[in-house]
Amino acid sequence: MTKVHDSKQYDLILGIETSCDETAAAVTSGGYTILSNVVWSQVAIHHPYGGVVPELAARKHMEKIVPVVEQALTDAGVNSNGIDGVAVTCGPGLVGALLVGLSFAKAFAYARGLPLTGVNHLHGHIAAIYLQPDPPPFPFVALLVSGGHTNLYYVTGAMDFEHMGQTRDDAAGEAFDKVAKILGLGYPGGQVIDQLSQEGDPERIRFPRAFLDKTGFDFSFSGIKTAVARYVENEDNATRHIADVAAAFQEAVVDVLVHKGIAAAKAKTCRHLALVGGVASNSRLRALMTEAAQEAGIYVHIPGPELCTDNAAMIATVGYYQLSEGKTAALDIDVYSKTSHSGRLGVVR
Ligand code: KG4
Ligand code: ZN
Repeated sequence: MTKVHDSKQYDLILGIETSCDETAAAVTSGGYTILSNVVWSQVAIHHPYGGVVPELAARKHMEKIVPVVEQALTDAGVNSNGIDGVAVTCGPGLVGALLVGLSFAKAFAYARGLPLTGVNHLHGHIAAIYLQPDPPPFPFVALLVSGGHTNLYYVTGAMDFEHMGQTRDDAAGEAFDKVAKILGLGYPGGQVIDQLSQEGDPERIRFPRAFLDKTGFDFSFSGIKTAVARYVENEDNATRHIADVAAAFQEAVVDVLVHKGIAAAKAKTCRHLALVGGVASNSRLRALMTEAAQEAGIYVHIPGPELCTDNAAMIATVGYYQLSEGKTAALDIDVYSKTSHSGRLGVVR
């Protein structure tokens, strides 16, 4: 992949990510090389509540941000004077959680006279693909599937996106989490459904595949979730074949994602497709997307699972590009809970 700018000014970027329930810090070199990538997960804290509690998330970020950043610097073998710039997630996400990362980043940058840049979390998920050894050349189509978003983009440059489609209701990850709750599998649901499905029969039940017959690139996942709830309500022995229910649900979601992802790449006559975001760590989605892409003559690019879920290396990478283009933030930069126009990048705020 060609670099946007061969920046000599910015090499080591400290990335900070606190948009949801992961306190994360990373150092990257030259935008592409990960020197450290520390993620402190709050999953155990929120697990008893069956979802992320925003107030608790913010408090835990406050407790962990300093040790996590210190660990990232130590792992990278640099001290804070060696850092060239600071990149921090400003949104979308939980406002209280975001504020912890942003306030820390402002103080860190101000105290050392470093440039600061605010990063859109969704942009970060796409940039995770640049951290792979063999990233896609521009242009490529990106399918971003996370807990809060299911979006399709046509990516023509590191900073240039065309929004192709999005979910009309639940995000794919949200559907995984809600169905896990319905099945009594706890929070977060994606990973546990992924594992349980390996013991199940995906063909035993057929859940609806919404929008599969529509030509556009929008998604809808709330119907699948409702269908699972209804099935569990009506079938007395549903809990006895819970692995089959999980596998059938997962198959329905994966089917739609694979179909739309490949169709979007074809519509753009694009031979490269990136699959990013937390749900891209799903083993069935990775396997079926790879299979379908091969059949269609499309190269599919998927980050390693640790770069699919929330991390700060992806934020540092976007920061590298932004700083190289002179996009620095003033100290009055603020957080935002939603990206304007439901995930359209380019106009970030
Ligand atoms: O990207 P991410 O870490 O955070 C957001 O930006 O939302 O994605 C988290 C989402 C959660 O909904 C989680 O259940 C889902 O990704 N997820 C998975 C898997 N691992 C995480 N979904 C399906 N299969 C997985 N293996
Ligand atoms: Zn995320």
